[in-house]
Amino acid sequence: MLMNRWLLNRAADRLLSFGDESSLLQPVPEADRSYLLYVHIPFCARLCPYCSFHRVVYDADLATRYFGALRAEIKAYAELGFNFSDVYVGGGTPTVNIPELVSTLNLVNRLFDIKSISVETNPDHLDARTSDALLACGVNRLSVGVQSFDDRQLNRMGRLDTYGTGREIQARLSGIEGKFSTVNVDMIFNLPGQTEATLSQDIKMLLDSGVGQASFYPLMITEATRSQVTRDMGIFSLGQERAFYNQILDGMSGTHKPSSVWCFSRDGDQIDEYIVDHDEFVGVGSGAFSYLDGVFYANSFSILRYDELLTAQDLGITRCRPLQQWEQRYYGLLTGLFGLTLSAKQLKSIYGDSYPAALELLTLTGIIEKKAGLYCLTGKGRYQWLVAMSVFLNGVNNLREQMRAHIHEEVQASLFLP
Ligand SMILES: C[S@@+](CC[C@H](N)C(=O)[O-])C[C@H]1O[C@@H](n2cnc3c(N)ncnc32)[C@H](O)[C@@H]1O
Ligand code: SF4
Repeated sequence: MLMNRWLLNRAADRLLSFGDESSLLQPVPEADRSYLLYVHIPFCARLCPYCSFHRVVYDADLATRYFGALRAEIKAYAELGFNFSDVYVGGGTPTVNIPELVSTLNLVNRLFDIKSISVETNPDHLDARTSDALLACGVNRLSVGVQSFDDRQLNRMGRLDTYGTGREIQARLSGIEGKFSTVNVDMIFNLPGQTEATLSQDIKMLLDSGVGQASFYPLMITEATRSQVTRDMGIFSLGQERAFYNQILDGMSGTHKPSSVWCFSRDGDQIDEYIVDHDEFVGVGSGAFSYLDGVFYANSFSILRYDELLTAQDLGITRCRPLQQWEQRYYGLLTGLFGLTLSAKQLKSIYGDSYPAALELLTLTGIIEKKAGLYCLTGKGRYQWLVAMSVFLNGVNNLREQMRAHIHEEVQASLFLP
């Protein structure tokens, strides 16, 4: 395979090797520009065995302190002159404490000219009170983590008791149909024990629930999650990944159009994953990343340290990493083609006026083709890009593990909170 996983891993590790805390840069907004604001809520009712995102078991007191610090950081970005047009609230589970989330979104609406708000949630929060509260603050995209409708899979993931059976989840999804401009469902494929028949049933139940958008992520495993996944869910293998992906492309093609390598939308114009539409973003909250003007920034992964930083009227940033030109180009091409096509204007913003040799190589190897003035991923290229993107995101997962290593005791303590 041209897109060798080892090489991709090396590139991701290189891109994500952050320095120490000594040389911090201050983010500066470009004049007259609106950015995407990513807001991280690191709390969940229960921790899923496969998940490497930054999250701890929910604790009400810690969450109250945390949301206070989060709002202080949002105000600090307003004072630095940033404006945001779009907001993405991810987690963890952003809907674990609705009053705190509502006052955070109300603040964001007061401070900035917001056009769209996306919020991630879990199926147990798909009730009328939660939906109404979110709609009242202008949330127009709700992204629900389902992973699978198969009760045996949900049980192995520890999600059956917490979030309900496949049939219950399906009924709750149908219950919120039409309320938000976009309802996205997150699914995971290539789960241990998955077969063509169980994946086919997952696709059928997803389509029957009537949702407008679905994201199918390949299961990503880090060294830190591998043993827990093996113990709880079974042995992970990449052997069937490509065949399962082709099955998904086929199964979704009758009703939904691909809007990124792993996202499928009923209408082409719905609100998509933030990485597709925004090449630069500001992340607030513990464990959030920002990417601005060729620099990656990472906020503290210690919730207590994050709280201290914001009490001292600082930002939450504790690491930063200016990318070299080739790294910026690699990242720009990776995230740009993840949205399936690249226009001449996008290419210019990645490469300037120099013609990118990388595109020549990708064309020669049949990964991209030129159609109507656009560079598009071919059918073969889509799977290659799914591999490239999942390797990069797994690099981000590894980085999260590293950044959490020094707060190991805090994370362990949170696992034993009631
Ligand atoms: C980090 S969660 C946050 C939202 C919510 N807590 C949930 O479970 O959906 C967002 C999505 O990331 C995906 N995800 C998390 N860990 C993953 C992994 N190891 N491999 C593939 N997808 C993963 C799941 O589909 C999940 O729904
Ligand atoms: S998948 Fe979602 S619910 Fe599960 S631990 Fe990760 S963030 Fe929490």
